[in-house]
Amino acid sequence: MSEQREVFVKMRNVHQRFGSNHVLRGIDLDIYRGETLVLLGGSGGGKSVLMKHICGLLCPVEGTVEVEGETISCKSEREMAEVRKKVSMMFQGGALFDSLDVAENVGFPLRESGVKDEQEIRRRVEEALEIVRLAGQMEKMPADLSGGMRKRVALARAVVEKPAMILYDEPHAGLDPITADSIDHLIKDLQKDHGITNVVVTHEMRSVFRIADRVVFMKEGEIYFEGTPAELKETSDPELKNFVEGRSSRASSWDEPV
Ligand SMILES: Nc1ncnc2c1ncn2[C@@H]1O[C@H](COP(=O)(O)OP(=O)(O)O)[C@@H](O)[C@H]1O
Ligand SMILES: [Mg+2]
Repeated sequence: MSEQREVFVKMRNVHQRFGSNHVLRGIDLDIYRGETLVLLGGSGGGKSVLMKHICGLLCPVEGTVEVEGETISCKSEREMAEVRKKVSMMFQGGALFDSLDVAENVGFPLRESGVKDEQEIRRRVEEALEIVRLAGQMEKMPADLSGGMRKRVALARAVVEKPAMILYDEPHAGLDPITADSIDHLIKDLQKDHGITNVVVTHEMRSVFRIADRVVFMKEGEIYFEGTPAELKETSDPELKNFVEGRSSRASSWDEPV
C-alpha cells in the first residue's frame, strides 16, 4: 500500500469563511500524483470551495496550499495564470459560453493565456476534442449539444492546456447512467494514458467505486473520512453507511440545477 507516492497537492490547516459562514475548518489533505481522488459530502459542505483553493481561485483565510512544493495560495493573478496551466477545473454545469462554438469554447483558455498562433490553437483544440471523443464537432453551438456532449466539451476545455491535474465538479450531474459511464471512462483514460491526477466531486456512488483510488468525505468543513473505496464500503460508521447506501443522499436533489 505504501510504495513511494509523490505528493502533488498539499493542504495544511486551510480555513475559509464567508462572513459568519465558516466553510472550511482546518483542511489537511495530500493528493498524490497520478491518483484519482473522489471528494464526497453533503450539499453545501464546502467541496466546490475546497477545489477552488487547489486551482487558486480562492485564497484561504488561514493555512496553506502547495502544488508541486510551491505555495500557490494568495498569489497575484499573473502568478496564478501559471498555476492554472497545471491545474484545470471542469466547473459544475460545464459553464460553456453559449455564443461561442465548440472550437472557440475549447480554445478559450489558450487564447486567454496568450497563444496567438491560430494553427497551433486549432491543432490543440482538435487534439483535446479527440481525447473526449468529439472529433469533428468543432462548429457546433452549445445549444445544439446533448447534456453529455456539453460535459465533454467542458472537459476538452479543461484538457486543452495539457494540465497535470484536473478538478471535476460534479461531472455526472444531470446525466443518464450510460452517459455518466462514458465520463467515468474518460476520467480513467486521462489518468492512465496521460498521467493526469484527478479530483472528482460526485454524488454517484456507482462512479465512486469505479473510478476512485482514494475517497475523502467532508463534513462540517473538516475531513471526516479518508480511505480506499473498499474501506468506505466496509465502514461501520452509520453516517458514511447512509451516504454510501444513498439513504441520506438528498444531496444531489438539493444542489442547484446546472
Ligand atoms: N463565493 C462565495 N461567497 C459566499 N459564500 C460562498 C461562496 N462560495 C461558496 N459559498 C458558501 O460556502 C458553502 C459551501 O459551498 P460549496 O463549496 O459550493 O458546497 P458544495 O459542497 O455543495 O460544493 C455554502 O454555504 C455556500 O453558500
Ligand atoms: Mg459544489
